Amino acid sequence: MYKILRKERLAPGINLFEIEAPRVAKHAKPGQFVIVRLHEKGERIPLTIADADKSKGSVTIVAQEVGKTTHELGTYNEGDYISDLLGPLGNPSHIDKFGTVVMVGGGVGVAEIYPVARAMKEAGNYVISILGFRTKELVFWEDKLRDVSDEVIVTTNDGSYGMKGFTTHALQKLIDEGRKIDLVHAVGPAIMMKAVAELTKPYGIKTVASLNPIMVDGTGMCGACRITVGGEIKFACVDGPEFDAHLVDWDELMKRLNYYRDLELISFEKWKR
Ligand code: FAD
Ligand code: FES
Repeated sequence: MYKILRKERLAPGINLFEIEAPRVAKHAKPGQFVIVRLHEKGERIPLTIADADKSKGSVTIVAQEVGKTTHELGTYNEGDYISDLLGPLGNPSHIDKFGTVVMVGGGVGVAEIYPVARAMKEAGNYVISILGFRTKELVFWEDKLRDVSDEVIVTTNDGSYGMKGFTTHALQKLIDEGRKIDLVHAVGPAIMMKAVAELTKPYGIKTVASLNPIMVDGTGMCGACRITVGGEIKFACVDGPEFDAHLVDWDELMKRLNYYRDLELISFEKWKR
């Protein structure tokens, strides 16, 4: 059993949980994730390790309430226990001195880019973080990203805070200004990562995306996270979750993400009752 040490509501529908898990914390590296199961009858869901404190023996996850399990997790509080937390899983991000690295986080993806941005900065890169939200009240962790970035650009779709538009508008502006960009690292909704990949491809800017297909075991055994990269079948949990964004079959990924939509809605409605 894994104890919740701290819960924080970061924005409407977005919760942070710091969970006691010393063995996971000890080995966690930026870009890795855990598979969480709330209780014996719960389903397994993957969540990125947004932070890890080795001395305290805790890991931090940030979850957006989108369906049954993430809403149920939202009802858990400090002092509660979750039954399983498996990890760290997946390959760590490739951290190196690239030069100028642009980190692009969309929505809850902002929490996911934080450990990578910090590691990129520690490796000596010039880090520009673009944080995209739908509207001002959903903005979170701008301060944390400022601590680990040289520049931060916040975008909101409705223009209620920061630059009006999508993360891709901010990225296009940097390119138009003639800024030298050596690597783009994107985490967020698949549609955003696809748009980032389409934007950077003609400029030949190396782009990495952390993929979020449906996962079940997270250890390469079930095949649920199957994706196509460069014409080859890959399992995102063991071959990724990060891949060359220019080679990903984005339409297939998005189609597979919606595969169980009707069943997920039924399960959520049942749980609400
Ligand atoms: P459901 O109603 O069951 O599903 C809503 C949508 O979420 C589905 O249509 C599907 O597209 C997706 N989904 C459903 N089940 C899964 C599953 N088992 N695995 C992956 N996607 C699923 N979300 C966060 O909020 N924070 C994170 O840090 C985070 N990190 C992730 C890291 C990885 C490697 C992956 C693959 C996904 C990550 N996600 C993260 C997405 C998160 O796992 C899903 O939002 C969650 O599983 C939805 O479950 P649900 O029961 O609440 O919603
Ligand atoms: Fe089962 Fe990747 S989640 S193979």
